[in-house]
Amino acid sequence: MASTQDALYRRIDLDLSWSEHELPERERTKHVHRLHPYLGKFIPQLVQALLERHVPNGGRVLDPFAGSGTTLVQALESGHDATGSDVAPFNCLLMRVKTREYNPFVLESELRDALARLDRFELVRPSGSVSPFVRDWYAPQAAAELLFFRSLVEDYEHADVLRVVLARAARSARRTTHFDLDFPRTPQKAPYWCHKHRRECRPVGEARRFLRRYALDTLTRVKEFARLRARGHAAVVLHGDARELDFGGRFDGVVTSPPYPGLIDYHEQHRYAYELLGLEEYRELELGKGSSRAALRAYVEGVADVFANVRRALRPGAPVVIVINDRRELYPEILERSGLELEERYRRHVNRRTGRRAGEFFEDVLVARA
Ligand SMILES: C[S@@+](CC[C@H](N)C(=O)[O-])C[C@H]1O[C@@H](n2cnc3c(N)ncnc32)[C@H](O)[C@@H]1O
Repeated sequence: MASTQDALYRRIDLDLSWSEHELPERERTKHVHRLHPYLGKFIPQLVQALLERHVPNGGRVLDPFAGSGTTLVQALESGHDATGSDVAPFNCLLMRVKTREYNPFVLESELRDALARLDRFELVRPSGSVSPFVRDWYAPQAAAELLFFRSLVEDYEHADVLRVVLARAARSARRTTHFDLDFPRTPQKAPYWCHKHRRECRPVGEARRFLRRYALDTLTRVKEFARLRARGHAAVVLHGDARELDFGGRFDGVVTSPPYPGLIDYHEQHRYAYELLGLEEYRELELGKGSSRAALRAYVEGVADVFANVRRALRPGAPVVIVINDRRELYPEILERSGLELEERYRRHVNRRTGRRAGEFFEDVLVARA
């Protein structure tokens, strides 16, 4: 006979299970949420609902596995201050760009100035030394344009915004097939039969049009978010290992989605960004690599250490809301080891969260207390 606990695990929360029709892609990727692709994020509407349900009005929110910053952005929209940490430097860059406040006139004039300089750029070959990665993954014209844009970045106050535009364009300008943009293994240098478009396609030869399109799109999205965010609230982004970071002060609630063993390599998915932006990698500190027995043990201990560290930064009784598809049932032990008490657990139906699954997929929302 199923225990009460099992019944609790299986309860599907229909209020959090949106269909494609109820929540189309353009809503799920509204304003700054789409500044750059990121596999494995949760959707803003889920975060918004969880904040409303579990975190006191205006309370300070923490996300130790903040990724692309969905929790931080939604916290700002819902009138909370928020802190997010991540071990991957590109994710921190992306979060800072999404959450800071801008003077829209300065931002616009800088982006337009960079685009005007790009328009005047006529070199066909990249100047200076080119890394093996760039030589392999980009056509000569695309490499030249990306490297030229990179050479401009430091000239601007909002250099980080230009870095994100550069990374997004570098992703689109790689020599890959149209159907394998997430984790391409080898460069596609010749025309190929494209399953997606059902015709012969050619790998991309230039980057300029992506740089232009994404610079303008970024501007629109940043302005849109500026109109929506609550006044007087800010986000802090911390780079580091959440097992050891000092999160700074006391928090009223956590909304987070930890990595899961063997699912997504969070450094590798943005490899081009690390290569082009010269960012340092911290792969050895990333939790959730591999799914061997030893890897699962390391995962349980690592995530438990994160939540134990988080617990020390919470007000007594603060909610810790964890979104996870725990098919290996690792979380009861993780919570116990970290000193958190599970209070509630419900399940939601997910609409293609990672972009690769077309079929049925569920995830759990665990609500624990410090
Ligand atoms: C499932 S993703 C979070 C996605 C996020 N909810 C969003 O919507 O963008 C998990 C994140 O945990 C980060 N991570 C992995 N190990 C970490 C560690 N030791 N300390 C901090 N962050 C870590 C990964 O880099 C990844 O960005």
